[in-house]
Amino acid sequence: MSAPKLSLTTTAATDAAVDAVIIGTVQDGEHVALAPGGEQVDAGFDGTLAGVLATLGASGKPDEVVKVPTMGRLRAGVVVAVGLGKADDLDANQVRRASGVAARALAGTRRAVSTLSTVDLQAAVEGTVLGAYAFTEYRSEPGDAPLERLDLVSPADGTAKEHRATLKASTAIAEAVTTARDLANTPPNDLFPASFADRAAALGRSAGLEVEVLDEKALRKGGFGGVLGVGMGSSRPPRVVRLSYRGPKARKKVALVGKGITFDTGGISIKPAANMEEMTSDMSGAAAVIASVVLAAKLKYPLEITATVPMAENMPSGAAYRPGDVLTMYGGKTVEVLNTDAEGRLILADAIVRACEDDPDYLVETATLTGAQIVSLGRRTAGVMGSDDFRDRVAAIANATGEGGWPMPLPEELRGDLESKLADLANVTGHRWGGMLAAGLFLREFVPDGLPWAHIDVAGPAFNNGAPYGYTGKGGTGVPVRTIAAVLADIAENG
Ligand code: BES
Ligand code: MN
Ligand code: ZN
Repeated sequence: MSAPKLSLTTTAATDAAVDAVIIGTVQDGEHVALAPGGEQVDAGFDGTLAGVLATLGASGKPDEVVKVPTMGRLRAGVVVAVGLGKADDLDANQVRRASGVAARALAGTRRAVSTLSTVDLQAAVEGTVLGAYAFTEYRSEPGDAPLERLDLVSPADGTAKEHRATLKASTAIAEAVTTARDLANTPPNDLFPASFADRAAALGRSAGLEVEVLDEKALRKGGFGGVLGVGMGSSRPPRVVRLSYRGPKARKKVALVGKGITFDTGGISIKPAANMEEMTSDMSGAAAVIASVVLAAKLKYPLEITATVPMAENMPSGAAYRPGDVLTMYGGKTVEVLNTDAEGRLILADAIVRACEDDPDYLVETATLTGAQIVSLGRRTAGVMGSDDFRDRVAAIANATGEGGWPMPLPEELRGDLESKLADLANVTGHRWGGMLAAGLFLREFVPDGLPWAHIDVAGPAFNNGAPYGYTGKGGTGVPVRTIAAVLADIAENG
């Protein structure tokens, strides 16, 4: 996929040699008004632009796009007015979302200029790159090409040098999200554990990371019973990939872990046929942590980071693990499998124990782990569990990035329901109540006491099975890459 070429400009949007000029609109009470940054464009219309937009039915509400032909008033042929929503206290999320809407509306256009960047440059960059994203790898006719070039009008505050640094960093962040989207959108016949490991290793090597790939033989030797158990039913054996980045002057060590189920049929506890194809994205957590460690290296965060990524395909077959099997996990704990569809927590447990052998200061783990996440929080808000303080910190950061997350508890009474009649632990509770929390409690058994730990369940947020909105198209969303990137930046800055 090719991202639009972005550059900063100080040329007035009225004089820019482009095809389209993007401005923001806001809801000012009952009326549509122009957002900051649109003043010069409005002057080109002799101050009539808000009135023209009102005549065309514009309201300034989020996701609204109204196009106005310039009739020679500007060099560009058209003004694209995108709604930001309520006017008071415009925030980054409004700019990111509107920039995404504009980028989608401008597919097939060669060159545009945006004034939304004067409100928030980073948000305009992220929204543009993400909104312009299209996954066309498997189409014979790719359709409208994404917007080719976008000039971003520099904000009034700050220096040109600061703006260039913001453009560079936010482009890298957005491209990490598109890397995660590409992986999630690649179909399961092409993305299976070995090919996924190859792609992760290639991404890691090109970023200068240390790469370790454990194949099935190494996993057997190491005793990775969770990964091996889940992977047994597939003709395509499992992998564990480790990507390590050692930053300059690193004072903190962060372990990242992400669920890499390349396809989840449920195994012998098989899923219903309806929508099973969406389980191609059951490796979104893995994709996010791979993209995040590569990004951290690109942005030279002063941290030590290792992503430990278990990869397996959950299939039913004559070789598959069964309900009733007892697995000996990496590190020696035993788990009775009562449902082979609760496979994510099994591969994650092995990876968490391995990751914590390195003695990290923080553990951030993410997974498309439970349908119960979607039941409790909907499709766009991740459930964040873990140790109290770090959980709250990660949830707050998830909201600030616009990805969305909410702190959730790990109620003690549910822990009792994970007792097994013969092993140390069962992989499910045997009832539906608090399914997301029960999965979190299962994982907690494998996390060392006292380690700041966050578990981000992105079952809904990682995949958009509805219509495009804002900067999010259909399919893989790349969530929670921006949350992880912001958590890493926060740890780098504040410890
Ligand atoms: N990958 C699924 C969770 C999921 C469901 C992700 C829907 C995205 C959309 C996971 O492996 C799973 O099957 N979880 C079970 C757990 C249950 C058996 C305790 C679930 O949520 O039904
Ligand atoms: Mn499952
Ligand atoms: Zn799964």
